Amino acid sequence: MDIRFQGHGPAQWKADAMLLFICKGEDPAAACKEIEEMAPWLFIAPAVRDFTATSGAVAVFHGHPSLAVPRVVAVGLGERSAVDAAAVRKAAAKAVERCRELGLVSALIPVTMLQNLSASFVPLLEESVCGALLGQYRYTALRSLTADEKPDVQWLALACNEEYVPDDVHKAARKGERDARAVMRARDLANTPPNILYPAALAEQACAWGREFGLRTTVLDKAALEEAGCHCLLAVGEGSAREARMIILEHCPKGHEDDAPLVFIGKGITFDTGGICIKPPQNMHTMKSDMSGAAAVLAAMTALAEEECPRRVIGMLPCAENMPGGKAMRPGDVVRACNGKSVEILNTDAEGRLALCDAIAYAEKTFQPAVIVDIATLTGACMVALGQEVAGLFTDDAALAHAILSRGAAVGENFWQLPLWQGYEENLKSDVADIAHMGPREGGAIHAALFLKYFVEATVRWAHLDIAGTDWVFKKTALSPVGAVGYGTRTLIELARTGV
Ligand code: BES
Ligand code: ZN
Ligand code: ZN
Repeated sequence: MDIRFQGHGPAQWKADAMLLFICKGEDPAAACKEIEEMAPWLFIAPAVRDFTATSGAVAVFHGHPSLAVPRVVAVGLGERSAVDAAAVRKAAAKAVERCRELGLVSALIPVTMLQNLSASFVPLLEESVCGALLGQYRYTALRSLTADEKPDVQWLALACNEEYVPDDVHKAARKGERDARAVMRARDLANTPPNILYPAALAEQACAWGREFGLRTTVLDKAALEEAGCHCLLAVGEGSAREARMIILEHCPKGHEDDAPLVFIGKGITFDTGGICIKPPQNMHTMKSDMSGAAAVLAAMTALAEEECPRRVIGMLPCAENMPGGKAMRPGDVVRACNGKSVEILNTDAEGRLALCDAIAYAEKTFQPAVIVDIATLTGACMVALGQEVAGLFTDDAALAHAILSRGAAVGENFWQLPLWQGYEENLKSDVADIAHMGPREGGAIHAALFLKYFVEATVRWAHLDIAGTDWVFKKTALSPVGAVGYGTRTLIELARTGV
């Protein structure tokens, strides 16, 4: 779906449908004054009286088919006092979904309607565009549309009264669009089957986007990883015929070459069978999205390059496939990370932290980061603790925690802080190595985070995001079909944009 603009006021507007977001108890015909000129019939349409605008309610009202804008698609926002970016994001997704069901080609949103909802309408405009695009998302790379699936709505226009589209409207719409396209890139990656998307294939995609968006891309193959001493990441990939890779993307605006960078690290396990400690088969196919963290980082990097973010940002994707082959790592193995620390492997299904610890150590050695934020589908324990709507956040840095919690909430990605409980550190003691990679089941997400913390130097600000459970929906929502949702992509983009 293209995002377009229309100017010159309602006399010049044209689309298959006008989208109206309505607060509970309010009259759709009063959503903006432009309706008087554009859809006066709405004031007398009998069906309008039955529309209650409860949150999520959708109704279609018809004017004469020959009109420039022959339909109104109204969506309820719920109580006016509770209207926020999230409500508008969802309303836009629902409205455009109804347009698609109706087989419509185009829709428009009157900008004054958003201005009437809030004095700070810019975020509402961004979320309208982002929500409309995400609501249309489906992963169709490998199938054709079924008989009852309609093609996408071709374009959505932001309709203004001015002759020239105001700058703030234009900028907000493009920002919402850029974010949505990044999220969709992350979804596509995480939805791609694991026989198609394996570490080397992900590296190729990263290089292709690196060229397209202007990111310096480096790929460490198996030989380079051996040279660098990343034996924890390599151990994860040993059981697979598909070799491990470390993908590094750098966005560096001119003059910032010597800045200490913000480093994003995303877990890139392209399939997690559990290895020798193999997982039960139920829902194992969803482990193709065990690279959702890597997908979020890669997608965020494309958006930051595209908008020429004025900050040096590095994305690292430690990638491997966790398989139980003849050379697979076993419980009891001891391997060294690239900073020389030895790690005792106790359960081969706790592979994510092995991939991440090498990336953290490599980042510190190579880039002297100011801040590291890692994102990973790391533990089932985090999902048990927080469910599937809110992800875990671990950090000892209050300012970083605040930035992640607030920026995440603003873009509809929710995080909740869990403790890096010092008393549990002794649970990671090993008799044979510097550290064991896991502790007891109880507090599993915390033990995983504490293991990562062991690799973070005291001078580096660091946060860990555990998105296990939130990265995948088992039931369709307004903003996503079943499958990968691209969780964390927008939070990372916002962190780089606004600074931390
Ligand atoms: N990829 C999984 C975590 C996961 C579980 C993500 C469910 C999404 C949904 C991870 O590699 C894993 O298997 N972790 C183990 C660790 C345990 C063996 C210490 C877990 O959480 O059970
Ligand atoms: Zn695992
Ligand atoms: Zn995993």
